Amino acid sequence: DKAQQDALKKAAGIEAAKIVENGMVAGLGTGSTVKFLVDELGRRHQEEGLEFTGVTTSRRTQAQAESYGIKIVDVDDVDHIDVTIDGADEVDKNFNGIKGGGAALLWEKIVAINSNRIVWIVDESKVVDTIGAFPLPVEVIPFGVGHVVSKLEAKGYHPVLRKNADGVEVRTDENNFIVDLHLNRIDHPQDLAEDLINMVGVVEHGLFLNMVDTVIVGDPNGPRVMTN
Ligand code: A5P
Repeated sequence: DKAQQDALKKAAGIEAAKIVENGMVAGLGTGSTVKFLVDELGRRHQEEGLEFTGVTTSRRTQAQAESYGIKIVDVDDVDHIDVTIDGADEVDKNFNGIKGGGAALLWEKIVAINSNRIVWIVDESKVVDTIGAFPLPVEVIPFGVGHVVSKLEAKGYHPVLRKNADGVEVRTDENNFIVDLHLNRIDHPQDLAEDLINMVGVVEHGLFLNMVDTVIVGDPNGPRVMTN
């Protein structure tokens, strides 16, 4: 149930917070699991005097981190990021993953590719044999989005423009739309990634292929680590 899943997310977040040391530049991801990470980093900052610089992947995470007094700078104001810790929606044994359930995939990918090390924190339900049961988020420019959706449909990708509870299109931090592809399974993620990124109007997609170095999995027996 949700309470148990939250406990596993929290355990993974607290474990990952140990990676951040004084003086580091740390990328901070987005989502409900990262929220637990940032709570713990905030606690360490306030109670243990941990001093580090954060680079955030969403306005939500920035606001949470700053509420603890953690120093946050723009990604362009650092020359390197020591480690980025983020959540994920699915990850397989080849370290291919899906991200973007929280609509932050574009900034997450930009921070990730500029990081020396990438760590994901997930609960055990997200470790899968084949990715794709989770709908693949694709960030699309609003202009002409109807045509992009039609083209995705024609390719058999089962696109759905993401809307909130009021029926209004969800906007990313870059003011773009999200289209979720209901694929059920993705057998050739590299080919799909290439196809999507070459479509006009597509800004980025949520396939993060073999980018992550370490996955910390919240497990009922305690957090376990998968190393790439
Ligand atoms: C945000 O866009 C996503 O990539 C999140 O990192 C991902 O959806 C995981 O979120 P949860 O920790 O809330 O499951």
